[in-house]
Amino acid sequence: MRTVAIDWTEAGEVKLLDQTLLPGETVFLEINTIEGMVEAIQVLRVRGAPLIGVAAAMGLAAAARRALRDGDLQGGPAAVRDWLCRATTTLADARPTAVNLRWAVERAERAAISAMHDATDGEAAVVVIAALRQEAQRVWDEDAEMCRAIGEAGAERIPAKAKILTHCNTGMLATGGIGTAFGVIRVAHQQGKGIEVLACEARPLRQGTRLTAWELQRLKIPSKVIVDSAAATSMAQGRVDLVIVGADRIAANGDVANKIGTYGLALLAKAHNLPFYVAAPRSTIDPSTASGAEIPIEERQASEIETAAGMAAYNPAFDVTPAELITGIVTDAGVLEPPYEEAIREVLG
Ligand code: MRU
Repeated sequence: MRTVAIDWTEAGEVKLLDQTLLPGETVFLEINTIEGMVEAIQVLRVRGAPLIGVAAAMGLAAAARRALRDGDLQGGPAAVRDWLCRATTTLADARPTAVNLRWAVERAERAAISAMHDATDGEAAVVVIAALRQEAQRVWDEDAEMCRAIGEAGAERIPAKAKILTHCNTGMLATGGIGTAFGVIRVAHQQGKGIEVLACEARPLRQGTRLTAWELQRLKIPSKVIVDSAAATSMAQGRVDLVIVGADRIAANGDVANKIGTYGLALLAKAHNLPFYVAAPRSTIDPSTASGAEIPIEERQASEIETAAGMAAYNPAFDVTPAELITGIVTDAGVLEPPYEEAIREVLG
């Protein structure tokens, strides 16, 4: 099952659902430049850690095609390599926290460079374009498959009639498939477990009330939205049996960066003796980041927070949940349990 948030156009451009307009309007953009894709990622027209990886890889392929047409790849392998290096650096730097972005772009770059090895100088550009398209499709296909595996592994941890609290948006609007944490919810619902969902608003951009609510309604999953500050009282009132969230980066020791507010939910879950699960594909694990303290946290503009004109604001988009607050990390290779350092080493081979 694939996302509806992204596709190719017949001309090889990226067809992107503009998520800033949801749930009110369904508008698709056609993107075929690096600048266009960077803008879409930074403004959150496309968002969610796995999906920005997929989008960047697809954007790179589409932009290479356009660059050939515009004559920007003339000059043989050196010119192609130069274009590729600039394009991948710009894309990978579009947002700092989700490691899937850099992972997907570097993967596409490696595929392109390796394809050039076997080509004549005159063929370099055409070969690179084909390799980028093929690798982008692979990144997407694999992500959809990883979502399915996460959904099935995670659903085993969901008891019948569970009341599940989730945060931000982790569904098909955030991935190439059915989602990560949302994928678990979706599979558990399809298995007839009679689950109910509480979706946190996710201030300030309200991915919960705009996007997760949109997905929950489409799938007719019994659910309610709450403002972020209603999480504690919902737990105290027995309206929550477990929490499951996604991740933007998982460090080697199991610390997890995810949407701002996640850390607070983990602390609340501990205070109320509730399981707290994280669901993510292995592409979200970054073994080169030793702990959460090293994860770069994106700070966004004050203008995203409604306040008096000219008022300064501190607006971190993500926070870090320490590994010791996490009951299990649901991956496409099964559910990891503490101690995470060891489990992560094993699962990454
Ligand atoms: O700023 P966003 O909307 O890109 O943040 C998204 C999240 O924090 C998600 O929880 C995370 O990327 C996991 S998506 C499967």
